This record gives sequence, C-alpha cells and structure tokens, in this order.
Amino acid sequence: MTLRSVVRGTGHYLPERVVPNSWFAERPDTTDEWIRTRTGIERRHFAAEGQATSDMGLRAARAALDKAGLTPNDIDGIVLATSTPDHTFPASATMIQYGLGMTHGFAYDVQAVCAGFVFALANADAMIRAGMAKRVLVIGSETFSRILDWTDRGTCVLFGDGAGALILEAQEGAGSSDDRGILSADLNSDGQYRELLYVDGGVSTTGTSGQLRMQGNLVFRHAVEKLAKTAHIALDKAGLSADQVDWLVPHQANARIITATAQKMGLPMDKVVLTVADHGNTSAASIPLALSVADGEGRFAPGDVIVTEAIGGGLSWGSVVLRW
Ligand code: UT7
Repeated sequence: MTLRSVVRGTGHYLPERVVPNSWFAERPDTTDEWIRTRTGIERRHFAAEGQATSDMGLRAARAALDKAGLTPNDIDGIVLATSTPDHTFPASATMIQYGLGMTHGFAYDVQAVCAGFVFALANADAMIRAGMAKRVLVIGSETFSRILDWTDRGTCVLFGDGAGALILEAQEGAGSSDDRGILSADLNSDGQYRELLYVDGGVSTTGTSGQLRMQGNLVFRHAVEKLAKTAHIALDKAGLSADQVDWLVPHQANARIITATAQKMGLPMDKVVLTVADHGNTSAASIPLALSVADGEGRFAPGDVIVTEAIGGGLSWGSVVLRW
C-alpha cells in the first residue's frame, strides 16, 4: 500500500476590479499591442484597497471546501504559497486558518515566489505520505499589485492579484503510475541568479517591503531552458512519458514561454490550460487558479495525467506530476 495525495477539490477567487491593458497606456510608455504580443496578457485583476492576500486565500479555500463537500473540521493543515504576505509575521496561512474558524492543525507559508505553489504541493504531499496529515489545504495567494513600480513598464504590466486553492487527501494507491494523486515532484533553486528577479526591500535590510525588479529577458531565457527539463524529470520519476500527458497546467507568466515549453514537450496547445490572458502573472496563485478554472469548466476527467511547472525568483523552479 502506498499513500497518495489525491486532489479532492479546487477553488479560486479573483478580485472584482479588472484592469485591461489600455489602463497602462496612460502611465508608462506602453501599448495594449505590445503587452498582448509579447506576453499574451489582456487583462488582470487588482485587489481592492484593504483587501489582503489572506482575504483572497480564504475565499479560494472556502470555494475548494464547498467543491469537495468538506468543512474546515475535515482539514489537518494549511500550506499557503505566497511572496506577498499580509504581515512579515505571523504566516498569512494562520489568518486563513482563523477565517475558517479552525483552532486545530497547522498553518504556515511557503515562499518560493512564482514556483511557490509547486513547492507547496510537494511539501504537503510529503507530509501526507509521511502520515503527518490526512487532508491539507494548499493555497496560492498573491497581491503583487502592492510591490509593483508603476514607472517600470518592463514589470508593472505583467502581474495581477488572485488566489487558488486545492485540497489534497490521503488515499491508498498501489504504488504505480496508474494511481490517482501526486505521482512525483522535481524542485530546484539556484541562488546565483537571485538578482534576475527580486524585491529591493526587506525586513532585515531596508526595513521596507520594496518593489519588484526583474531582468525579464534573462528570466525568459532561463524559463524556456528549464521548464520543459523539470517537467521531463518529474515525468521520468513518475514512470510516465510526455505522450501520456493529458494536460499541462503551467505557471502563467508569458504565453510565449508556455508555447515554447509545450513545443519542447511535444504537446499540442489544446492540452495546455491557458489563463494568462485574463489573469496576468499571479505568481504562486497562477497554477491553482488555472487548475480551478479548468476544473470548473469540467476539462479534467478522472485519471487524466496533469503536469504543472513553474519558475520564479531565486531562481527557483520545479514541476509536479499528478493523476486527477
Ligand atoms: O513569473 C516569474 C517569472 N517571470 C517570467 O517568466 C517573465 C519572463 N520574461 C518575460 O516574460 C519577457 O522577458 C518580458 C515580457 C518581461 C519582456 O519581453 P521581451 O520580449 O523579453 O522584451 P525585452 O525585455 O527584451 O525588451 C524588448 C523591448 C525593449 O526596448 P528596446 O530596448 O528594444 O528599445 C524594452 O524597453 O521592449 C521594451 N519594453 C516595452 N515596450 C513597451 C519592455 N516593456 C515594455 C512595455 N511596453 N510594457
């Protein structure tokens, strides 16, 4: 008997305010056409004043619980992937735990920027397989609009706010690649690239929260090189090949990166979940948002093989393979 972490439910939340590309035309020197053709982004959502990362994460968590037909009492712990927490501490996951009315279980944040949800999934899966928890809420929630430099056209047009959540549940499997649930993960970081994408503030340095800085074209090159590779490594660990993949659910940073990765994996675009046009880059929230949107549209069938992959600041990157 092998314990597997099976997805029981998904949910998401997007703030009400939708900001089209045209909104930026009045700010830095940019156009809707440049943003669309270089990134695939058409619009993004921005959180309302006073709306924090945990508020969005809580809504996504509630939606996932509803979908699974579970209550907070059924959950043993919360892992929140975020780089834009409500406060330096406590973990924003504890705000979500409080919001759900939970006084039991654990709640903590994982910070691996845009790769955060892949890291959080792998982390929650390891806890489930170690017998430390039966059901874990894994959430990605981000408020990147709060760390953008509105005078930097190379970054401010790219990001959006939102949250996605899924519930992992321990179920017995046979230990083969036919099992449902998470089958493998591949996680990587390389701090020699830390200055390609970072925030220029922090608690122990400037005492401020800082603003996002990115050398976009260099990150782009790493993404194209590393994402198909990590997906192949994870597939290999799962005992599967790319032609057995039903869905690629990638981090939604740039449609050109996603297309290049799908091409390298030999996957047609109709097997790729694309939400970047509507959400922009929501960092750690992008994969759970895409999973929840596609799940809500009934696109996944039980038994489908799903590959997720992401890269972000660190650089940190990785992939998780699961069977729906
Ligand atoms: O989620 C975390 C990981 N992040 C990513 O995966 C992002 C990866 N990077 C990218 O998606 C792309 O590199 C960008 C979308 C950020 C930029 O696209 P690019 O094709 O790599 O453009 P570039 O940075 O090489 O810049 C090309 C030109 C430059 O002008 P010059 O020097 O050729 O005159 C930029 O100044 O495009 C200019 N540019 C813009 N022009 C109009 C940069 N941003 C804009 C803009 N509007 N918003």
